[in-house]
Amino acid sequence: AGSGKFFVGGNWKCNGTKDSISKLVSDLNSATLESDVDVVVSPPFVYLDQVKNSLTERIEIAAQNCWTGKGGAFTGEISVEQLKDLGCKWVVLGHSERRHIIGENDEFIGKKAAYALSQNLGVIACIGELLEEREAGKTFDVCFRQMKAFADAVPSWDNLVVAYEPVWAIGTGKVATPEQAQEVHVAVRDWLSKNVSAEVASKTRIIYGGSVNGGNCAELAKKEDIDGFLVGGASLKVLPCYSYGLCQ
Ligand code: G3P
Repeated sequence: AGSGKFFVGGNWKCNGTKDSISKLVSDLNSATLESDVDVVVSPPFVYLDQVKNSLTERIEIAAQNCWTGKGGAFTGEISVEQLKDLGCKWVVLGHSERRHIIGENDEFIGKKAAYALSQNLGVIACIGELLEEREAGKTFDVCFRQMKAFADAVPSWDNLVVAYEPVWAIGTGKVATPEQAQEVHVAVRDWLSKNVSAEVASKTRIIYGGSVNGGNCAELAKKEDIDGFLVGGASLKVLPCYSYGLCQ
């Protein structure tokens, strides 16, 4: 861990019911989280209001997506203004499931990030390579291309956290080794330094996602350029990865 305050996001994806979420919220409310860690959870849209109204203020809320601009005649979309109205502080954008299952491209994701930041909604900007891209030696090319799309679009980096999530590690139980993650994080930081500024490179938090759990989070967190986690499956339970030093 290096830049800024350690940042841990729990991405609940398309999971949960009113009942299971109410149980998870009550477990989170009674957990003692370390004070020097930002903790954020990302419930499905339909439960955002329930979570906001029941979760401790200590934990901030992220949406899992947003529209590219102001609301209006965009059936099925959710606007940044609506997310802010519900009390969201963050939005997850460019998640691999949206890139590769739904088909969102770099430009579309960049537009969403730009609009969200322009309205003071923080962005958790996800990047990461597929297994075949890694095997073809294209990991850095892919991550840098995705970084460039964010860099070309966003008005500022003040409220943006980069999440490196290698697609082969997501939901597979195949966590990247701390060295594999560190190698990409340092390369992304270096890319920021060369292409944005040294200041942005040093202050932007770069968090890791992909099969993080209570057993592997402490080792990952020791790496210099791993500034937090974006946790999927394991975030549906209160495990140490929520605040990598969750006080038991
Ligand atoms: O956004 C978090 C994520 O994609 C990682 O999921 O289940 O591998 O922790 P998981």
